[in-house]
Amino acid sequence: MEKIPYDQIINIQRKVNIVDVISGYLPIEQRGKNYFAICPFHDDHNPSMSISPEKQIYTCFVCGASGNVFNFVMNYEKISFVEAVAKVASIAGINLSIKAPHKSRNKDDTYSKFYGMYELANKYYQNNIKTLYGKTAISYLKKRNIDESVIKEFEIGLSLNDNNVTKLLKNKGFNEDDLIDIGICGKKDDFVYDVFRNRIMFPIHDSDNKVVGFSGRIYNGESESKYVNSKESVIFKKGKILYNYSRALNEAREKKQIIIVEGFMDVIRLYTIGIKNVVATMGTAITKEHADLIRRLSKNVILCFDGDSAGQKATISALQMLENIGLEPKIIRLEDGLDPDDYIIKKGKEKFQNHLINAMSSLQFKLYVNKEHTDFNDYKQISNYINSVAKELEKIDDKVVYELTIKKLSKETGVDIDTINSLLKNIPKKKPELITKPLKVKKSKYEMAEEYLIYYMLRSKEAILQYQNDVAYLTNKNLAMIAIKILDFYEKKGYINITDFTLFLEDNDVLINEVLRIDSFDLPDEVDVNVIKDYVKTIDEGILNSEIKKIKEQISAESDVAKKVILLEKLATLKKKECK
Ligand code: UTP
Ligand code: MN
Repeated sequence: MEKIPYDQIINIQRKVNIVDVISGYLPIEQRGKNYFAICPFHDDHNPSMSISPEKQIYTCFVCGASGNVFNFVMNYEKISFVEAVAKVASIAGINLSIKAPHKSRNKDDTYSKFYGMYELANKYYQNNIKTLYGKTAISYLKKRNIDESVIKEFEIGLSLNDNNVTKLLKNKGFNEDDLIDIGICGKKDDFVYDVFRNRIMFPIHDSDNKVVGFSGRIYNGESESKYVNSKESVIFKKGKILYNYSRALNEAREKKQIIIVEGFMDVIRLYTIGIKNVVATMGTAITKEHADLIRRLSKNVILCFDGDSAGQKATISALQMLENIGLEPKIIRLEDGLDPDDYIIKKGKEKFQNHLINAMSSLQFKLYVNKEHTDFNDYKQISNYINSVAKELEKIDDKVVYELTIKKLSKETGVDIDTINSLLKNIPKKKPELITKPLKVKKSKYEMAEEYLIYYMLRSKEAILQYQNDVAYLTNKNLAMIAIKILDFYEKKGYINITDFTLFLEDNDVLINEVLRIDSFDLPDEVDVNVIKDYVKTIDEGILNSEIKKIKEQISAESDVAKKVILLEKLATLKKKECK
């Protein structure tokens, strides 16, 4: 693979802001001069990753993941350093003429023909609906309050009762087996036919906004299935795709909120009343991949599934999935079992917007669900209800919420506040949050001197020169490597700073993490040269110490007397040095 020259790397880095790039992947918030995000590199529940616009560096204080903008993109997207540089370059509007690595080029080539098939079929269906054949479909959509501009926006089309898509795509030179594999065509007894027939077509786009599947709805007849979806394929995995994702992306980030609904028509209805930060699960249960995608849009999530009992079940499981990755979604439950589309049509957009403003917290929702399933004439059920609420309250830190909930519970059940309170006392209190900071091992003064020397080598040429002239080597392997690299950088560039030095380390995550860990020490930026000299002296002592230790070990392991004598002599010389 091609190597990108350092000067070009630095040039690209100067043209982007790490804050903007990371915010394209994760919701971030500003606190003081730094920005914070939920760290994507460990199972983070609080924002532990800080991003410094000043240093153009990110660091997670829990898992230690850190680096510059390229390291972030590389580690987040799990791509190579060179690919990450190319990606950031394109964000910066720079055309990097590097060849894409073979693996992904091949993948792109095979997939691009599939994207091509879907793109063409999509155009074809969209055209159909505008023709005479589309009249009934258009009037069906009109009846559902969907006008031409919405049809255009969502690229809604129409499949006819023929095999014209198969013909068209085969004429364009697409391979029959590919068309079947990808789910546009089917085959029976050597006859290849259109899978979608006589349905209103909704194209489904992936996160790069490429069409990867369709869903077709019946509109003028009977069928066992209301919607028929493209089968799963290499480019279409329902568990990894959210309907309307790419269209909602910017809106969700701007509004700092994302609404999750079940169906196509729900997305479209919300869109028509001006709510564009919405995606649909397409009726499937939320997967971990969905949850990760949602987190990319915003950390303020609102679940607005259908108002029926299936919708409630789906909400409970989605809530679980989203809470597992550190989100705290809010919940809307619509009355009369309605879905968002029907609700807005029947009750009006204001009422829906009211729901949006007053969305329930997850606690409120769980209490509401528990309550719904309780028969308040049955004492045993009341007891179970109180106990289940108590279990939820256990997770709450907010004293006010705690007290108000107990009051409400007492009123609902007729059970005395004191009784409820005494019940709660029996429940073990929430354990204090475990912060898994990297274990602090007590370091020897020699190790500390090595780290402090690096700290100043990253800042001053005096420290680098001291290292060059007076230090034999550093005993810690990583630090030794870093020191050599710093010297190398300094000799080539004639200066030193953290940001540029991490660029020089390219994809060496281990060294970068180590450099940034040391850089975060709470030490003054400038220091007297005598202090550096002290570090150097301590380091020398440390080296001597470890050599003496090594020789002593060799001596006790040596059985050959003659060899032992040589070692003893060596030891004596070292000891003499030590006394100096
Ligand atoms: P719903 O049954 O709630 O349909 O399924 P809907 O969204 O209200 O559709 P309309 O309003 O009748 O047109 C919710 C979602 O589940 C998926 C679709 O994505 C649908 O939008 N679904 C539903 C299917 O994939 N296949 C089906 O047969 C039904
Ligand atoms: Mn509906």
